[in-house]
Amino acid sequence: MQIPSHNESAPRSGFPPASVGSMSPALTALRVQLLALLTVALIAAAASALTQEWVAGDFQWALLHGTLAALIGHRFGMAVWWLPIHLAFAPALVAALAFALPPLWFFGGFVLLALVYGKTCQTQVPFYLSSRAAARATALLLPEQPGFSFLDLGSGCGGLLHHLGKVRPDGNYHGVEVAPLPFLLGKCRNFFRAAGCRVSWGNFWDRDFAPYDVIYAYLSPVPMAALWRKAHAEMRPGSIFISNSFAVPGVTPDLSLELDDFEGSRLHVWRM
Ligand SMILES: C[S@@+](CC[C@H](N)C(=O)[O-])C[C@H]1O[C@@H](n2cnc3c(N)ncnc32)[C@H](O)[C@@H]1O
Repeated sequence: MQIPSHNESAPRSGFPPASVGSMSPALTALRVQLLALLTVALIAAAASALTQEWVAGDFQWALLHGTLAALIGHRFGMAVWWLPIHLAFAPALVAALAFALPPLWFFGGFVLLALVYGKTCQTQVPFYLSSRAAARATALLLPEQPGFSFLDLGSGCGGLLHHLGKVRPDGNYHGVEVAPLPFLLGKCRNFFRAAGCRVSWGNFWDRDFAPYDVIYAYLSPVPMAALWRKAHAEMRPGSIFISNSFAVPGVTPDLSLELDDFEGSRLHVWRM
């Protein structure tokens, strides 16, 4: 597929990954939950003093907590998708306790989630997978000459690399993933393509982008501006930068491909 050249001249300065690793949304969420808890505790204490008995059951208190947390979260200017999380958190906690599961189950669930999403507070990029349609469209964007090198920034469980390696076995595929469990699954999945596919555990901000002909990112809106500065500073002229779904603020892509997938997502493509 022909991709026009990108002429925009962004500054080739360093990038600020520190600004991407901000803890603030997670800390704000914690503050919101604690503030709602404090308010509910005060209301419960006042109600108990007035009536000499609890006026509501655990689930009602949890619902009150959720409602207050959502309102406080809104007041604190949190992104709208945090509000249902605040609303549901305490009721879900009370509902889960009602099942009286052994504590080890909760511990196991916590460890599993930490191995997948533990770094999300820092990266502000959650784990989800590229669709089949995205993988097929990406395959069409690969260079025609064999021996090209491709890097998936945050390669998840390696599904995209696996697909590309099957349809274009003449390329060299690299993935870098920071979450331990998806990294291990990706490593195992691509183990038998040892020569053409390498998945490593680490942070893509530490990677030099210069050796790659194609770089693919499916991340979140948060790192896109800093990622563009890094890509623009390090990628070679003629190489291709692809972002699934998330645009670079203020930089028009050279090509935009609408995907026929469930999310109705779009591949944004720049030729450097
Ligand atoms: C939306 S998923 C995409 C997974 C895969 N690329 C795909 O398209 O199916 C984003 C992945 O990037 C990883 N990630 C986020 N920030 C990262 C970083 N700084 N270094 C390495 N991996 C990162 C996340 O752990 C997550 O698995």
